[in-house]
Amino acid sequence: MKMDYLSVTDLTAELTKKLIIKAIDLKKQNYRGNELKGKTVALIFEKPSLRTRTTFEVAIFHLGGYPIYLAPGDIKLGVREPVKDVARNLDKWVDAIVARVFDHRTLLELSEYARIPVINALSDLEHPCQALADFMTIYEIAGTFDVKLSFIGDSNNVANSLMLLSAMMGTDFSLAHPPGYEPDSLVVEKALDLAAESGSVITITTDPVEAAKHADFVYTDVWTSMGQESEREKRVRDFQGYQVNSELLEYASKDVRVMHCLPAHRGEEITEEVMESERSVVFQQAENRLHTEKSLFLEIFKG
Ligand code: CP
Ligand code: NVA
Repeated sequence: MKMDYLSVTDLTAELTKKLIIKAIDLKKQNYRGNELKGKTVALIFEKPSLRTRTTFEVAIFHLGGYPIYLAPGDIKLGVREPVKDVARNLDKWVDAIVARVFDHRTLLELSEYARIPVINALSDLEHPCQALADFMTIYEIAGTFDVKLSFIGDSNNVANSLMLLSAMMGTDFSLAHPPGYEPDSLVVEKALDLAAESGSVITITTDPVEAAKHADFVYTDVWTSMGQESEREKRVRDFQGYQVNSELLEYASKDVRVMHCLPAHRGEEITEEVMESERSVVFQQAENRLHTEKSLFLEIFKG
């Protein structure tokens, strides 16, 4: 059976941990290999990207494969032809699809119609490859997943993947969001089910101080995600008080590290001072995207 990675929940906690430990090893070795020799991977992007596109292309190249970047204007997914037709063309030529889409249902349709693995490079619902690199970063720093991770801001794709992965890995997770920006109820329900098994504590609040209290890692993401640009002014108003700044970090653990998936909007969800401080691990997170994606490909194409 083909292995997709559309949600962090597509891998078990055990396999996720194995994949992260492998990624740490690949990083140490500055690994180059031939596991993808003769293989091609289509990278479909409906939105812009720096980190995701570059790290996927480099990961594929370092493993001996060949990436084919399909820009938003190139194939006009679902407009020039239906998603299911794109899937049934690509699977005749390439060995996997990596796709960044507006609507998560597009990934489900690609997966249903393509007989090859499909990897989520960000959708409106999840950003699993980001969360994988973030948990590698947490593990590198803390040596365990048994920490408290706080997310302050918009309960979006990144927050969803972090909440679910925390619940899987036994990590305590607290989310603070403004009223009216509640997280997806199905994601919360799933996270609570997973947390009941792993023992992690999931807290959802509108109080950023409560969420940040004793946190080992404080995470934030933009208030206006790609595709929400028309809501920007309203969001900037609604998210006042949900900034990660040095006052908020006073409530966190004294060794707190600050995380951000990037790109960051300094002066909105995070201050310049905190972004540039020694507590910030944002570029380590970005670096780790390459290694977790290599590790993911090794798992997908093993044997
Ligand atoms: N964090 C992240 O996914 O960055 P890009 O949007 O640049 O790919
Ligand atoms: N939530 C952001 C993440 C960018 C990597 C967005 O969807 O634009």
